[in-house]
Amino acid sequence: MSAPAAVLAGLGSYVPPRTVTNDELSQHLDTNDEWIVQRTGIRQRHWSDPGVATSDLAVEAGHRALKSAGAQAPGDIGMVIVATTTPDQQCPTTSPDVAARLGLGNVAALDLAAGCSGFIYALATASATLMAGYAERVLVIGAETFRPFLNPTDRGTSVIFGDGAGAVVLRRGTIDEPGAVLTVDLGSDGSLRELVGIPGNGSRHRSTDRPPHPDDQYLYMNGKEIFPHAVRRMAQSSSAALENVGWNVDDVDHVVGHQANLRILQALAQLLGVDKQRVVTHLDQVGNTSAASIPLALADAAAKGRFQRHDRLLLTAFGAGLTWGSAALTWPGVTLA
Ligand code: UT7
Repeated sequence: MSAPAAVLAGLGSYVPPRTVTNDELSQHLDTNDEWIVQRTGIRQRHWSDPGVATSDLAVEAGHRALKSAGAQAPGDIGMVIVATTTPDQQCPTTSPDVAARLGLGNVAALDLAAGCSGFIYALATASATLMAGYAERVLVIGAETFRPFLNPTDRGTSVIFGDGAGAVVLRRGTIDEPGAVLTVDLGSDGSLRELVGIPGNGSRHRSTDRPPHPDDQYLYMNGKEIFPHAVRRMAQSSSAALENVGWNVDDVDHVVGHQANLRILQALAQLLGVDKQRVVTHLDQVGNTSAASIPLALADAAAKGRFQRHDRLLLTAFGAGLTWGSAALTWPGVTLA
């Protein structure tokens, strides 16, 4: 009998309708389209309108993933995981609200915060839940609303980050089925936590006597410092995942890396020895959407017919924490809703 595995059964995505081009940003920031395209590969991003929160995007993407998986009735899904860096509020978590609005009943629901690696961490959590027999199907959503966390005067973050949500349904199956998640590799390095984050609102911050500073609410990032860590950690984690599953780099049909910067993806491909045709890029359209980045890239590539059933995919991500993670899976040929 084949070993149990989480199997991809549905996929959905959603980006808010408002598109923000590089030229639009250049109107109020000291930046320009040429710099942004050359240094990041980003041409536009989507930003949510005022009043829209992460749960709103998560519900849209979740609904589409459920439809794609043919799972509509309460009881079909045993757990909802929302991976996000930008939850609706500190407490309560965002996922119970998302589950309720999707009509999933009194399902288990948790938020997972692992920065831009959140989707891979959520994939690992969902796989373990399914294999332990605690659920038959899990809805995993990566969702972010960065716009309200971007300092409008900081060109280092404002040109990079975008809003969106991507979701997958995973069901309990076996490793020989197309769509099986074959392995996950995860890691972290908290000694480099100062490189990227949102300091305001946590207990560390609130427990000090220092009066709050307006910038505390904003995302900060030391992009230059973090860049080489991103390349090295995603390459190491990818190699570990490949070794776990017994694939050579040449066995991989598609590398779906965290969409932070085109130059990071190119450096990663070079380190791994993968030609760039096999690297999925979607950041030109959506920027860096953190925990939503990988499922959004999967949905975009799937919609374009890029993946064939049984294709071998390597997913890899890196983000605040620092955290990183990679997963190897085969493609199931899901129908997008
Ligand atoms: O997603 C989770 C983790 N995050 C990442 O992985 C992000 C990794 N880092 C990056 O993607 C890149 O470091 C950035 C895109 C954030 C920045 O690109 P860079 O090539 O590292 O730029 P830099 O910070 O070294 O700055 C180079 C120059 C500087 O000017 P001088 O000092 O050479 O005159 C900056 O002031 O570019 C300037 N600059 C800009 N110019 C126009 C920085 N940002 C901008 C901008 N527009 N938006």
